[in-house]
Amino acid sequence: MRGQEHLGWKASLGGFYVIASTAGLLLAFSGGPPLGVTGDFGQPNCTDCHSGNSLNAAGGTFTISGVPAEYVPGNAYPITVAISKSGQSRWGFELAARSVTSGQQAGTLTATNTTNTQVRSSGGIQYISHTGPGTQAGSAQGTWTFNWTAPATAVGAIRFGAAGNAANNNLSNSGDFIYTATVTTDPVSVSQPITALFPQVAVGGGFTTLFTLVNTGIDALSGNLILTNSNGSPMEVALSAPSSLTIPSGGAKFIEAAPVNPTDSTAAGWARVESAGGALGGVATFQFASGGQLASVAGVLSADDTDVATIPVDDDATKGRFTGYAVANHEDNDVNIRIILVDANGVPVGQPMRPSQLNPLRAKNHVARFLFQDLNDPNLKQQGSMVLIADGGRKFAVVALVQNSG
Ligand code: HEC
Repeated sequence: MRGQEHLGWKASLGGFYVIASTAGLLLAFSGGPPLGVTGDFGQPNCTDCHSGNSLNAAGGTFTISGVPAEYVPGNAYPITVAISKSGQSRWGFELAARSVTSGQQAGTLTATNTTNTQVRSSGGIQYISHTGPGTQAGSAQGTWTFNWTAPATAVGAIRFGAAGNAANNNLSNSGDFIYTATVTTDPVSVSQPITALFPQVAVGGGFTTLFTLVNTGIDALSGNLILTNSNGSPMEVALSAPSSLTIPSGGAKFIEAAPVNPTDSTAAGWARVESAGGALGGVATFQFASGGQLASVAGVLSADDTDVATIPVDDDATKGRFTGYAVANHEDNDVNIRIILVDANGVPVGQPMRPSQLNPLRAKNHVARFLFQDLNDPNLKQQGSMVLIADGGRKFAVVALVQNSG
């Protein structure tokens, strides 16, 4: 134990030297504690020497503030350590910031006020602590502010661990109260670019959707498959593989989305892949099973986003053949979409339509409808095309749906 070593050394010295070396220690300890006593990552704390009162005794406060919930790599953050306990009058602390998983030094600690704080290192770990004047003898509390700069690249969760001393200013290690505290910060969640869009996903009521994701790039790809309900909320499904994916160059991944309970009714929505590296191609296949038998399969290629889309129309109510569209708004802003019906000769029919479902289509929402619903004509017989156009050149993702019950 540190304290015992220290006492043993003191006891071995002659009387004169004890006084002289105690004076030296006075500078050595109150002028900065020994390193490696933060109380975190398995380290001892100041009670190694400042014993006598229980650790974290009631009536005191010891806080680490300014640590962001999520750190941005390379950003600097002012951190404040504060300690108080009524009746006490001299203060000290020691703090380190380390990777939760590796225990390595995380980021950089900098003393912005070198009168009352100092940074020293041991074993590759930086420790910031009080200085002699930094003990703020005679004050009712101790406060220290310094900078922490997040590592240049994210290293996962980082924990700040500190031990503090609410001392009684008797120039010795007796009658002091020791406190410990930790605060953890996580890397900021960075959303990766959308690399595949599936404007229509159906799950439940006999439907499952199978996503086939192929990496045609030369680098490995890593990202996430994200399924979203029509109203923009996360879609609860049972996935056959984890939604976070890595696909090697030339590799493929097959992920089936099934209802959480086999009896769940159909839920529709859309999906996207956000990824980095490689080049993603994807196909979503809707499989309709009735009574355990696969009754039909329909495939939809992953769509690019667009501000104009033309869908061929060959509707005939007498044959039960209807054209529809599935539109997903993958952006963070609302979009307004009008539909222009064009006949087989290329001539617009009537006025542009603005179905309320698409005006607006909220951020991250989805709509699937049939043209006959927009025209309010269940007996529709129409050939030509329908053109979907977003106001202001905004982007959306769309696929054609064809119902053919004949
Ligand atoms: C190895 C033993 C040892 C450890 C560990 C230790 N100290 Fe001390 N500390 C002392 C001694 C001995 C004194 C009295 C002599 C002096 O003031 O330097 C002292 C004095 C102090 C004082 C002034 C006390 C008073 O009442 O005047 C403060 C403040 C202090 N230490 C803070 C800390 C903090 C904070 C830690 C933990 C992060 C710590 N010390 C860890 C040995 C230690």
